Amino acid sequence: MAVSKDDKVFDYSALQITSDDRLRHLLTIRGLNRNQIVELLDRSQKFVKAEGEAVIRSSALSGRTVANLFFEPSTRTRASFDLAARRLGADVLNLDVNTSSRKKGESILDMIYTLQAMQVDVFVVRDAEAGVPAYIARHVNDFVSVLNAGESYVSHPTQALLDLLTIRQRKGRIEKLNVAIVGDIAHSRVARSVSEALTTMGVGSLRLVSPKALAPDPHAFPGEAIITEDLDVGITGADVVMALRIQRERIGNLDGVPGIDEYFSAYGVSHKRMQLAAADAIVMHPGPMNRGIEIESSLADSPCSVIREQVRNGVAVRMAVLSTVVESLDALRK
Ligand code: CP
Repeated sequence: MAVSKDDKVFDYSALQITSDDRLRHLLTIRGLNRNQIVELLDRSQKFVKAEGEAVIRSSALSGRTVANLFFEPSTRTRASFDLAARRLGADVLNLDVNTSSRKKGESILDMIYTLQAMQVDVFVVRDAEAGVPAYIARHVNDFVSVLNAGESYVSHPTQALLDLLTIRQRKGRIEKLNVAIVGDIAHSRVARSVSEALTTMGVGSLRLVSPKALAPDPHAFPGEAIITEDLDVGITGADVVMALRIQRERIGNLDGVPGIDEYFSAYGVSHKRMQLAAADAIVMHPGPMNRGIEIESSLADSPCSVIREQVRNGVAVRMAVLSTVVESLDALRK
């Protein structure tokens, strides 16, 4: 597979929408317009239930099979796709990649063709290599869908949707909000996808805060984003503050990355730092979270933290995305 760091190669927007404007795959937030994002958020909201209430179940995916193919570790995304598919009535296959035949040298496409022969309808794919979900989407049968569950540093579209849903629930809107994303922006697929989604939704200001060694290539982010090394500048007046962990697995050389104490002091999102944000600001983290490094532990558990709401919303968003693409597959069959 040819993989390029040219951003154009990662623009899969045309591949994921059918000729009659339906979402067939979800590979990227790029190219989704405001209406398409709002439709997904509205559909997700219908699947949200408060803590203690019975979860919503439906037969929307009855007779369908969803295969979770996670070639990188995951807790939240994998568990929530699994629960979402089961709550919609699907059969779910969680392939153990460590015991799969890919370990014996089977190509990823042979693996996909094998599972397709068992009538898998939706592949949910996480991979450390950029381009893999789109590569699979280009090769699956006509009535099969591919969902990107986290692609290298490039893209994590369902995470962006669940982040937007959480912001909308707490703030009532996304438009005109000031959002600060703090941490390892350079290696973060979450930062890329959520920045794209926020920009499409008309965010007021987007501030990307990181030490120089973890700063993004400005061309990889929407033009309006403010890139700064100064957390005080980035956080002042913010309505939403999102902390990100350092993606050590994607950093070849840690030279220039501050040590833990120095990092927390300069870039840790803390109660003290939050005094500069808007009085009703919320704190987010996509997880996995390293307490005491990118976020003060007690702040993560405080009333302004929406971290567990993000996790709850993750199941609802994945139910919405699964039901949407399966409707698109049904429409393609007609
Ligand atoms: N946010 C996120 O993708 O978490 P996991 O790696 O646990 O899936």
